[in-house]
Amino acid sequence: MKTYSSIFDCCILEFNQIHNRSGNITSVENLLNIPFDVKRIYYLYDVPGGAQRGGHAHKELQQLIVAAGGCFDIVLDDGKNKKVIELNRPYYGLLIVPGIWREIINFSSGATCLVLASHKYDESDYVREYNDFINYKTGKFSHNESQKGKELII
Ligand code: TYD
Repeated sequence: MKTYSSIFDCCILEFNQIHNRSGNITSVENLLNIPFDVKRIYYLYDVPGGAQRGGHAHKELQQLIVAAGGCFDIVLDDGKNKKVIELNRPYYGLLIVPGIWREIINFSSGATCLVLASHKYDESDYVREYNDFINYKTGKFSHNESQKGKELII
């Protein structure tokens, strides 16, 4: 777990668009326009209205999240600060560094959330309890809800 990582280490990357009368193409390549070697790709789809995904952090995994279709919001939380980022175009990607709690909410109908990941699936890389996440970030052992990150207006 990157205990020192913050939401300010996460950023939006803009990819090239190849425009064509019959549609557009965006391509991304390992280490060229994404800052890690992609080992896994997965996508969320058929997300029911009102559903929330995520609700965990990763110890080592880096991810690039793209709204390949539709839109959704990603809530980033480093234990101190919190911000909400709307993804709504397929040529933007949100880079999430390790050690960030994330929730994905407000999926539009038919949205596809494409995730490029730096490692293969490994359940031991997940931190699934918010209190455990705070413990990782602070090294403390008992925490309560009041320690959730404060909302920032961006
Ligand atoms: P999870 O990452 O918790 O989903 P989300 O963050 O979108 O809510 O994964 C949900 C389930 O799917 C969990 O049982 C693990 C499994 N899973 C895999 O088997 N492989 C994968 O690459 C991913 C992302 C999840």
